[in-house]
Amino acid sequence: MKEKLEQILKNAKDELANANSLQDLDDIRLKYLSRKGELNSIKKNLKDLSDEDKRIVGSLANNVYNELDELINSKNDEFYKIELNKKLENEKIDITLPSDFRPQGKVHPLTQTVNEIVEIFQGLGFSVMPSEYSPEVETEYINFDMLNFPPNHPAKDMQDTFYTKTAPNVILRSQTSGAQIRQMLNHKPPVRVISPGRVYRCESVSARKNNLFHQIEGLLVDKDITFADLKGILNEFVRIYFGSARPTRFRASYFPFTEPSAEVDVQCIMCQGRGCRTCSGTGWLEVLGAGMVHANVLRNVGIDPEVYSGFAFGMGVERLTMLKYAINDIRLFFNNDTRFLKQF
Ligand code: DAH
Repeated sequence: MKEKLEQILKNAKDELANANSLQDLDDIRLKYLSRKGELNSIKKNLKDLSDEDKRIVGSLANNVYNELDELINSKNDEFYKIELNKKLENEKIDITLPSDFRPQGKVHPLTQTVNEIVEIFQGLGFSVMPSEYSPEVETEYINFDMLNFPPNHPAKDMQDTFYTKTAPNVILRSQTSGAQIRQMLNHKPPVRVISPGRVYRCESVSARKNNLFHQIEGLLVDKDITFADLKGILNEFVRIYFGSARPTRFRASYFPFTEPSAEVDVQCIMCQGRGCRTCSGTGWLEVLGAGMVHANVLRNVGIDPEVYSGFAFGMGVERLTMLKYAINDIRLFFNNDTRFLKQF
């Protein structure tokens, strides 16, 4: 039996020497070491031997088993590495090859500005009006009359406003201020809202003016609201939007729907107030219009001006974007030239 064991060991070693794949190793393991393998068939015959021989042959069989097991395992490791390397070699990719060009869309710079401003005002406690308060096709009644424009105000003239042929007095809105009216008709104070949107004016197009542009309207009405509240909110907005504590200036102005009215300037971002071409030598840039909501407007929407007061403001999105990024032509926003757009 001892010879038989040695024969088995020799045969297995010969076969291992000729093996050249993981599959071969599996076959050899099956043939010699498995339950139905050659070593086990010897162990099954041990029962016919004397106790002494059982011990000798048994331990010899175990030694053979261990030796073969170790040999197969180390071959297995070796083959595994070889096959892995082969596989890696086959699946190799050249990461230095140029990739497919996939152009990526971006948010339009005007939309970016709107988003940014909306976020700033949300941080100051304002919420965005429902879009149905802010239709682009509007009535003269909401766009002008309710906002206290006198019947023959020049802004209502055909020069400024696009009239439609659909119905008399139906226009493309010239300002977002009408949203104030719809807001107050639908909600009693306190109100604290903003409303971004498109407006239209019958202008001749130039580097500074387009006949379609964007505004953001703001409205706050409550008890005991003063001009100091308006200044506080707008100074805070300018500080956040332009990044640092940029000086502002409130200049007395006129809008039919506010009294008193103001225009807000920021110190010129180009020359820091020294005077340059961008600010026409004044050192200041106008960024928005604002004021205390006119008592007539409050009355028009059924709010008692003896009890409530409020402020409103309106800003041009194009203008604010141009000032922030030093863009010198408003038409760039509307040409959809990707060389311009992809810079944002
Ligand atoms: N609607 C004005 C315009 O288009 C801007 C404006 C000024 C809006 C003063 C306001 C405001 O709400 O209070 O020029």
